[in-house]
Amino acid sequence: MKKIAKPAKKAVKKKSVSVVKSKSGIKTASTKVRSVRSKKLIVANWKMNPGSIADAKKLFLATREIARNSKGVMTIVCPPLVYLDTLRKLYTKSTVLGIGAQTMSTERVGSVTGECSASQIKSVGAGYVIVGHSEARARGESDHDVNHKIHEAILEGITVILCIGEGARDDDGDYLTFIRNQIFSALSQVDRTKLGSIIIAYEPIWAIGQGRADIIDGHEVHKMVLFIKKTLREIYKDDRAMQTKILYGGSVVPKNAKELMHEGEVDGVLVGGASLRPRDFEAIVAAA
Ligand code: 13P
Repeated sequence: MKKIAKPAKKAVKKKSVSVVKSKSGIKTASTKVRSVRSKKLIVANWKMNPGSIADAKKLFLATREIARNSKGVMTIVCPPLVYLDTLRKLYTKSTVLGIGAQTMSTERVGSVTGECSASQIKSVGAGYVIVGHSEARARGESDHDVNHKIHEAILEGITVILCIGEGARDDDGDYLTFIRNQIFSALSQVDRTKLGSIIIAYEPIWAIGQGRADIIDGHEVHKMVLFIKKTLREIYKDDRAMQTKILYGGSVVPKNAKELMHEGEVDGVLVGGASLRPRDFEAIVAAA
């Protein structure tokens, strides 16, 4: 029998919910959460970097130091799969540093050339897995695949970092419907009690890889956080679903990290480019 992950304990103590109308006319849930400040999650998505295992070790050791010196932050490094096993030997699982995979197969077993299953990534140390990243979706990962992977990861006790985000904005708010559909589809048949194993990362595609601190502000991020929470409540018909952790990703750099995290009221950030530059990454971790 496979073990089913228990939902993580929440630091949230009390909350009150009210429904407000946003500019686009769409009702969003406004949550006023009085909480004991929980650890911010800073996820480093190295994408297909660095170019060699030697450089990956160097970068990992630098990141490990940053994580060890941090306060109130959990750093999660997601290197290319091929480096996972080597890197996990360079650290001890702790409350400040974790390691994750950038992808996994929809399949549990079988002739699936080029893929790795949830149990395989777990066996080389992955406690987390990124699913639904726009770069993976662009290469063919469908909503159905995303949902399938989430179920497989949960069965293995791996925490999913579920990426969602629109390609472009429009005045009619169609992008909100798009995001709502992504969430509904990804979480299809995922029980509310498993939401502790899901972290949602809002990553608007137009903000990814721009490296521009002004691409989005904290206020806009906060609006999206409320919209995602409202969608979770709609799916689960349960206020507790809104305690799901939400990250922001897309051009997070030292200059905007503090504003995005604090005004945006996210539980952390998903960092691409800046996670490859230890100085920048250190500044982002310090801003948490
Ligand atoms: P950048 O931080 O380089 O914009 O990338 C974001 C991202 O795609 C993280 O998953």
